[in-house]
Amino acid sequence: MHFPHILVATTTLAVAVSSSYAPVPATCPSTALVRASTTSLSDDEEAYRVVRKIGADSYLRTWLLETLGFFSAIEGDLPTIGLTSSGGGFRAMLIGAGVIQALDDRDSNSSVNGLYQALSYHSALSGGSWLLSSIASNDWPKISSLVETWKPALANGLFAPGGSDNATLYDSINEDLGNKTAAGFQTVAVDAWSRLLSWQLLPGANGGVNNALSDIPSKPRFLLRIVPYPIITAQAVDLNGTVCVPPADAAHWEFTPYEFGSWDPAVGAFTPSKYLGSSLSSGKPVNSSSCFTKYDNLGYVLGTSSALFNDPGLGTDQVYDATFANFCTIPNATATTTDTDTTALNAGVARMLTIPNVRVQSVADLYAPWPNPFYNLASASQVSAAKTLSMVDGGESGQINPIFPMLLPARKVDVIIVNDNTDGNNNFPSGQEIVNTYNAAKDAGMTRMPYVPPFETFRAQNLTSHPVFFGCHNDTVATIVWVPNAPFTSIGGNTSTNKMQYSEAETAAMVANGAAVMSQNNSVDWAKCLACAFIDKISATNLPSVCTGCFTQYCFNP
Ligand SMILES: *[C@@H]1O[C@H](CO)[C@@H](O)[C@H](O)[C@H]1NC(C)=O
Ligand SMILES: *[C@@H]1O[C@H](CO)[C@@H](O)[C@H](O)[C@H]1NC(C)=O
Ligand SMILES: *[C@@H]1O[C@H](CO)[C@@H](O)[C@H](O)[C@H]1NC(C)=O
Ligand SMILES: *[C@@H]1O[C@H](CO)[C@@H](O)[C@H](O)[C@H]1NC(C)=O
Ligand SMILES: *[C@@H]1O[C@H](CO)[C@@H](O)[C@H](O)[C@H]1NC(C)=O
Ligand SMILES: *[C@@H]1O[C@H](CO)[C@@H](O)[C@H](O)[C@H]1NC(C)=O
Ligand SMILES: *[C@@H]1O[C@H](CO)[C@@H](O)[C@H](O)[C@H]1NC(C)=O
Ligand SMILES: *[C@@H]1O[C@H](CO)[C@@H](O)[C@H](O)[C@H]1NC(C)=O
Ligand SMILES: *[C@@H]1O[C@H](CO)[C@@H](O)[C@H](O)[C@H]1NC(C)=O
Ligand SMILES: *[C@@H]1O[C@H](CO)[C@@H](O)[C@H](O)[C@H]1NC(C)=O
Repeated sequence: MHFPHILVATTTLAVAVSSSYAPVPATCPSTALVRASTTSLSDDEEAYRVVRKIGADSYLRTWLLETLGFFSAIEGDLPTIGLTSSGGGFRAMLIGAGVIQALDDRDSNSSVNGLYQALSYHSALSGGSWLLSSIASNDWPKISSLVETWKPALANGLFAPGGSDNATLYDSINEDLGNKTAAGFQTVAVDAWSRLLSWQLLPGANGGVNNALSDIPSKPRFLLRIVPYPIITAQAVDLNGTVCVPPADAAHWEFTPYEFGSWDPAVGAFTPSKYLGSSLSSGKPVNSSSCFTKYDNLGYVLGTSSALFNDPGLGTDQVYDATFANFCTIPNATATTTDTDTTALNAGVARMLTIPNVRVQSVADLYAPWPNPFYNLASASQVSAAKTLSMVDGGESGQINPIFPMLLPARKVDVIIVNDNTDGNNNFPSGQEIVNTYNAAKDAGMTRMPYVPPFETFRAQNLTSHPVFFGCHNDTVATIVWVPNAPFTSIGGNTSTNKMQYSEAETAAMVANGAAVMSQNNSVDWAKCLACAFIDKISATNLPSVCTGCFTQYCFNP
């Protein structure tokens, strides 16, 4: 036994960590930097999945037993459950946080508590990725304690993280960006956006600057495999083409603790998250000094997942219309967006853009640049010609719920709890986003996606007023448990996506609304029906009689 050696190595590492936003030159690993696949998980994720499933099943068994008082009929596998947290700015982050609080048996006595411990996967994008990154970097604390760290930051607002000392803080952000530029990387609006968000959300000195995506596997609760595997999504735009936003059939890109890449058949490639930022060609380092670590700054990941600076219709329009007239040719979106939240957002972005190290010179600067690990990789045909991936918000192709990662057969997800906090209807979900996902999944031939009716049906049948199960009684598809944001508390829960400042009371009220959404106001009947949705996936016989009524009430029947 030679543990002392390991202890020494760990100590040395801790001292060597630099306190900077800059990527760090690294020795290229001798192992492969690119894994080509359109179907299979990395060995690391597969190992995580298998162990997590055992723990998740054990919690789910207990939860089902407590909820239904019935369990003898189920002896084999239990369903694998995933949760998705949608985009929608701080609204989505706060409602999504409440949803998790209601599910977490450490943090709630709600009718659905204990299910968080039964989750295998948690995917998130944009405002949802702010939530997931804050949770993971803080090692999966209770939401009730995490919210206490958000409250003062959100009360100052995104663009005033220093409170009365903003100037110093903006100087420090400029320095962070300068450090990254000095390491050889251009810094753009998304970098400043990322740093501002990190000041709100991430733990540690200098606005959480040292958190990296690839640090997550060393978090204690991740090491114990007692938390859902996190997946953050983003999209990429081919700037060589004529589009400025990703089309409906765009590839979905995943940032996970182990890997970055896309399952899309036109990409089908992954690289270790830790070595993002390295210059590769045909899957190999271009030379012995082209590898970097720390490009996967977690703030830059969540900033990329929420990067909307390329879209003139999305809040930052006034700023960019002035700089890039007619870029994107979306007809005059500015005219309609004059509410106070949008005005404040635009003013904040304008302030942000005055940071000297934010480069705003070309259209490419409106995107989040990531050195393309799949440059010259023939099998990744969609991106093999691009030296840089120009990345944007994970919802920009019209799917603001990150459902695609859950449909990968290798992840074996049977039930997807889709917490939809999007804003199609008075800042509540309209159903359009999940319809978009159904259409795109169908076009892409993704067999695990359940049937979702056309948007008109959502309106005709008032489907947005309560949760809906899609895919009941059909073993070939996953069941989507769609949980749309809805008004349960006095705040209503439908604040604007563009609202970047919340008083402490508003923050608390939004989280409380989210908790009520997930428990449907602490309904025991709802919890039983949720249990029925789970066991429907594995045992169509011997269901408790309560399930009959549940399926009538919640299953969408084409
Ligand atoms: C970051 O840049 C500042 C200003 O140039 C410099 O003083 C500091 O040493 C740099 N930090 C790192 C870690 O490189
Ligand atoms: C749940 O209820 C029990 C019994 O009343 C109480 O001891 C516990 O603190 C509650 N837990 C939470 C997270 O509220
Ligand atoms: C700076 O801080 C003050 C006090 O918190 C705030 O009112 C103001 O809006 C901030 N200004 C900027 C540009 O961040
Ligand atoms: C190695 O590759 C990097 C990245 O492309 C480049 O900047 C650098 O000049 C190259 N170094 C040598 C010695 O060729
Ligand atoms: C858009 O704005 C331009 C310039 O402000 C104006 O000429 C044009 O008529 C507007 N188009 C529409 C569709 O409103
Ligand atoms: C851009 O398009 C040109 C012409 O089609 C092609 O030769 C080039 O490889 C493309 N570059 C990128 C980065 O996609
Ligand atoms: C919230 O929804 C209510 C209807 O339930 C609507 O009257 C109100 O305008 C909405 N608020 C916002 C900020 O969209
Ligand atoms: C299951 O759902 C798929 C996708 O909508 C559909 O093609 C198939 O017919 C369904 N099977 C049954 C038994 O309903
Ligand atoms: C839709 O459901 C809501 C909430 O249950 C209800 O208030 C509303 O009247 C319903 N609308 C229609 C058209 O049925
Ligand atoms: C939620 O439940 C409380 C009592 O527990 C009740 O006062 C309130 O009206 C309910 N809210 C909704 C939206 O059903």
